[in-house]
Amino acid sequence: MELLTTRLRLRPMSLSDVAQAHALATSPGVARPAGYPTPKKLNATRLRVARSVAEWRKRTPSRLSFTILRRDDNAWIGLINLNWPHAGVGELGYSLHPRHWGNGYASEAARRVVDLAFDTLGAHRVQATCWVRNRRSAAVLRRAGLKKEGLLRGYLKRGQVVRDEFMFGLARRER
Ligand SMILES: CC(C)(COP(=O)(O)OP(=O)(O)OC[C@H]1O[C@@H](n2cnc3c(N)ncnc32)[C@H](O)[C@@H]1OP(=O)(O)O)[C@@H](O)C(=O)NCCC(=O)NCCS
Repeated sequence: MELLTTRLRLRPMSLSDVAQAHALATSPGVARPAGYPTPKKLNATRLRVARSVAEWRKRTPSRLSFTILRRDDNAWIGLINLNWPHAGVGELGYSLHPRHWGNGYASEAARRVVDLAFDTLGAHRVQATCWVRNRRSAAVLRRAGLKKEGLLRGYLKRGQVVRDEFMFGLARRER
């Protein structure tokens, strides 16, 4: 499954993405706001990528992970996922390498994945959680058409720190 936007190509994540995915996850300002631990070793990233790649081979994947590339020059921009916490509910997650922030790429990719969820995969709802301090991500979600729905108190524990997240969502009926 390949998705195109004006400037981007989204292709299924593959094992060839391990080095770039590791560079992304270990870049300052990426793992913490996204809510996952910074991987200490390349092997930890390899495992994560391998799990996502394996999902693509399942009949009903619980996660679709795409690598975002720039169509112009094939530059490696970042990753975007669509998880399925329940049947018919797609949950977005994404990270871009900081060198590619500020160009509208995350919003462009998120809009395309929202369309995929509703128009091709029959979702009745698309949602995303977002750390209350992650203003960049909240802006991406709004640009992709999701609305802030509420505060999830004590939603995520990373190390000893428990934090609140916002829930953003878009239901098919209001699209
Ligand atoms: C969240 C994240 C993807 C947002 O990145 P981003 O670059 O701010 O978002 P976009 O790619 O949509 O770019 C939007 C910016 O590009 C600007 N822009 C420049 N050219 C543009 C164009 N042609 N079209 C649209 N926007 C453009 C916008 O004005 C906006 O700028 P602003 O931040 O000054 O308002 C990024 O910060 C990240 O990877 N963070 C770490 C991981 C993370 O937090 N993930 C989210 C988990 S919930």
